[in-house]
Amino acid sequence: MKRLSGLIVAGALAGLVALTWAQNSVSGYWDFHAPRVANNDGTYRETFFELKQDGDKITGRIEPGGSRELPIVDGTLKNGALHFAIVAPRANATPNRTVYEGTQTPDGRFTFASIGMDGNATRGELVRVSQAAALPPPRIPPPALHDVPDNGLARTPPMGWNSWNKFNARITDADVRGIADAMISTGMAKAGYTYVNIDDAWEGQSRDAAGNITTNRKFPDMKALADYVHSKGLKLGIYSSPGPFTCAGYEGSYGHEEQDAKQYAAWGIDYLKYDWCGARNEYKEDEEQAIYQKMGDALLEAGRPIVYSLCQYGHVNVWQWGGKVGGNLWRTTGDINDRWASLDLIGFGRQQTATQLELAPYAKPGHFNDPDMLEIGNGGMTDDEYRLHMSVWALLSAPLVAGNDLRSMSETTKSILLNAEVIAVDQDKAVNPVTAIPQAGASETLLVWAKKLSDGSIAVGLINRGETPSPVSVNWKTLGLTGTKIQVRDLWAHKAVKTSGEGYTETVPRHGIVMLKVSGK
Ligand code: GLA
Repeated sequence: MKRLSGLIVAGALAGLVALTWAQNSVSGYWDFHAPRVANNDGTYRETFFELKQDGDKITGRIEPGGSRELPIVDGTLKNGALHFAIVAPRANATPNRTVYEGTQTPDGRFTFASIGMDGNATRGELVRVSQAAALPPPRIPPPALHDVPDNGLARTPPMGWNSWNKFNARITDADVRGIADAMISTGMAKAGYTYVNIDDAWEGQSRDAAGNITTNRKFPDMKALADYVHSKGLKLGIYSSPGPFTCAGYEGSYGHEEQDAKQYAAWGIDYLKYDWCGARNEYKEDEEQAIYQKMGDALLEAGRPIVYSLCQYGHVNVWQWGGKVGGNLWRTTGDINDRWASLDLIGFGRQQTATQLELAPYAKPGHFNDPDMLEIGNGGMTDDEYRLHMSVWALLSAPLVAGNDLRSMSETTKSILLNAEVIAVDQDKAVNPVTAIPQAGASETLLVWAKKLSDGSIAVGLINRGETPSPVSVNWKTLGLTGTKIQVRDLWAHKAVKTSGEGYTETVPRHGIVMLKVSGK
């Protein structure tokens, strides 16, 4: 008996020790909640870890939700102080090492921070979660392919404004209202700019109990915002991703495509930009068509005309299938930024498998190549570069989506974005492809591009990608014009110019363009 009770006592003690160990062990799944302080929207970014504790040694991995699955290195837990690192390899660069450190609180959580290579810390807390919460959602198989009927929208390239280039994730309801006001007061609306598009970072932390997408505190009432924008005669656009997360780590439409499309329609949304990067972990590139088709179908069924903007940076020759999934426009390049090198690469270089010029024949009424939004007026380029930006986009029949703060535009910025003669080249209903016209004296840096317009005239760009001002010539014969009564209008000088008879030559500024409209036979 004594021996038995001794055993019971020993067993109970062992159980207690095991229990205490289990409580103290950090082995299991954890969620790092990092409030998005800079965005000031009340949401937090989640990063999931699986931790394994062996004495004071910590191993495990970061879960791929939104990021890559990578092992934990240099992990320790000593006297409640947790420390580990994640090393992410980078192509042609030193690996990106992020250090994580935290201190355990009496209730078992950690006050926690990630510290990047620049030394900047993102602070929050590390909380224990279930395995199901930490792992990526189960894969939803892509649907079989079919052709989504044309929605009849965007017969000419969409024109409007988008928040990302200037406001990034800090865009608010008040900003959008201010931009809508400015669209009217500056004359942008009259010039044809119609869509006011909210990019990433409007989404709430999580869906509601019925699975409906929610907004964060920067967008208290999306329906009221849409009503406001509509009251100005403008249209409202929104943004999502086919993945569980958007590019900036907000809630995506994965598994909720129809529900989200209906919600957009109920709010009064007129345009959706649907951005791939959050779907990278779920799907392979060759599944993109099927995944974009899913939202194309959902938008058509939502009961409201919604322009469908595909954003997958020109993967897998999207220009060949973007229209079949119901897309009105598809990005053909990586992200633009407000620098000449970016503009020059997008406009004239090869990204993914093609140049913009090679893709020009794929643009058709209702379906456009999208070399990304405008940076005009954001301050990182010269006025000549911005005039070239506007003109090249017009020659390419590209969407004209301004990306600057319309509430505080300089007169020069206005003169560029509001150049009705260049806008008319962009909006020409024939959507003829621009071509490079071989010329004596033309080169990689000095180019002549031409696009036939529906009135029989030809829009011609004399382009100088070089570092010094240079004369660029166009010979009328190279445009198929043989007559003598050729009229030429300079679309930036806003006046007719005299020609020599054979053609026209003008000195084009460094990183600049001369835009002409040539009429005659
Ligand atoms: C991607 C897109 C950008 C912008 C951001 C938002 O990078 O290409 O245009 O939408 O995501 O997170």
